[in-house]
Amino acid sequence: MKIFFSVILISIFFAGIFIGFSLRRTTERRRKREVWDRFERRSIMRTINALVSAIDFKDHLTKKHSDNVKHYACIISKEFGLTSSEVGVIKEACQVHDLGKIGIHDNILTKPDKLTDQEYKEIKSHALAGAVILKPFHFLNKVVEIVRQHHERYDGKGYPDGLIGDDICIEARIMSVADSFEAMTSKRPYRDPMTKEKAMEELKKHSGTQFDPKIVEVFLKILETQPEIFKDPKE
Ligand SMILES: [Fe+2]
Ligand SMILES: [Fe+2]
Repeated sequence: MKIFFSVILISIFFAGIFIGFSLRRTTERRRKREVWDRFERRSIMRTINALVSAIDFKDHLTKKHSDNVKHYACIISKEFGLTSSEVGVIKEACQVHDLGKIGIHDNILTKPDKLTDQEYKEIKSHALAGAVILKPFHFLNKVVEIVRQHHERYDGKGYPDGLIGDDICIEARIMSVADSFEAMTSKRPYRDPMTKEKAMEELKKHSGTQFDPKIVEVFLKILETQPEIFKDPKE
């Protein structure tokens, strides 16, 4: 009997060592995988950002536009209570949201006159094109979704898929408000920048049709209470 218990105890002892060792190896492997994934993600994002800088050569407004959209979208996202990892994804998406413009001819991107229907159609293709370019990077799934949806409208009249209301992900609805506000308050080849007050009026006017009213409400309140967050195009 004594021998029997001794054998059981020794078996439990060795089983414990074996399980402990296996768990340690699994944890170690998972940690290495996470470090590698972070490294891979950062490297690929750097490459994609280089592509965005390449578009800046065609259209000098792109890089500054992306930086400013990121600035506004981050502030709205935090106010909306998004987690820090969700805000991190929005930052990446903002940086690359107009990546699809890489395939659009410079003459159209910088045209000082009104675009023809065909040219406007081409400009509109950038949302889908950006998503297609980013799709092979499996860990950018959410970024791809946001980029694809950033010109959808709350009333379903946007592109490329005509999604309605909450079918558009919250990140893309936030980006849409940030993107439009930035575009309105910046100089374009075909018009001068709008004042902050005029752009705020425009957001209000299109709240519930083009934009999610909850997001417009939050953003307008931020602009009123924290005027220093406004990126003045003259600076
Ligand atoms: Fe866009
Ligand atoms: Fe944009």
